[in-house]
Amino acid sequence: MLRIGLLTSGGDCQALNATMRGIVKTVLNNAKEKVEIYGFEDGYQGLIYGRYRKMEWADFSGVLTKGGTILGTSRTPFKMLDTPEADGVEKVPAMVANYRKLKLDCLFMLGGNGSTKTANRLRQEGLNVIALPKTIDNDTWGTDMTFGFPSAIDVATRCIDDIHTTASSHGRVFVIEIMGHKVGWIPLYAGVAGGADVILIPEIPYDMDNVVAAIERREEKGGRFAIVVVAEGAISREEAAMKKKAYKAKVAARVKPSVAYDIAEEIAARTGREVRVAVPGHTQRGGAPDAQDRIFATQCGVEAARACLEGQFGFMVAQRAGKMVRVPLEDVAGKLKYVDPDSDLVREAKLLGISFGDE
Ligand code: F6P
Repeated sequence: MLRIGLLTSGGDCQALNATMRGIVKTVLNNAKEKVEIYGFEDGYQGLIYGRYRKMEWADFSGVLTKGGTILGTSRTPFKMLDTPEADGVEKVPAMVANYRKLKLDCLFMLGGNGSTKTANRLRQEGLNVIALPKTIDNDTWGTDMTFGFPSAIDVATRCIDDIHTTASSHGRVFVIEIMGHKVGWIPLYAGVAGGADVILIPEIPYDMDNVVAAIERREEKGGRFAIVVVAEGAISREEAAMKKKAYKAKVAARVKPSVAYDIAEEIAARTGREVRVAVPGHTQRGGAPDAQDRIFATQCGVEAARACLEGQFGFMVAQRAGKMVRVPLEDVAGKLKYVDPDSDLVREAKLLGISFGDE
């Protein structure tokens, strides 16, 4: 008998079900023994509190195109693992006990950075864990791509496309806020795909003088409107120079809900132009996975299942230079992958005339 457990952790994305389908179908098709499948509800919460359900092939049929997660998800921050005082439950021992109670041979964990930290902790406790790189943000270290990222780029790009028509009719400047608190992968890719004039990301602190100059240059060339894409975590040079504590206090004290409004107000004040804000928000995590996402999710699922059938555990499946690989969990746990300001795409975008506000 082969007993496997599945859980989806952290912010959801479009290709979680497609990934689980890849795992389950591959295991069922290739296992030499009978297989039992357990799905934990709401991420690590299900493993901690013993909320799970027995699942079968039919549960994973027809879910390739279904966004979200059929298991439910939640955020269980790593630092909460050692807080038994909150509810009297020792979280790590409880997870180990539930894994052992079900006599699991392997736990498949679909999650991002924080979740891989917990997965690594469970590995250290002796559990057989295989992690799969989920997040729309594409910020998981050790893999060129994460599932969720391709679909999120598509949603964000469609938003930028739609804003183009109304921005053009009214001759307005639009500030579009795209997801990415710590990293700017989605704003960078969607900004290039959507033809943005300015892209502001956390990895490249901006100077408002440069942003204004870029908008004015476009106007001088006859551009009636301008599109400024900003990451949720876009940061100015002054803010980047501030002490971490002071910057956090500044962000917490924002009257308007997001950075886009601050930037929009400043552009309006300095250019005299009509400026509007658009925030696609969680639509970027919603809906069906696109074709590229379905393919990558399937590859991740198949590779993870293959490893389990080979009896290999303790790593995250990843893609590097087009090849599926297995990266040790201890190397990945909690590490972020940032946009390199000197990367080809940033340099090409600059040559095209897109401003990142740094020059
Ligand atoms: O981690 C994915 C992500 O979508 C980020 O891009 C975004 O900043 C954050 O989650 C939003 O989190 P929540 O769904 O908890 O509001």
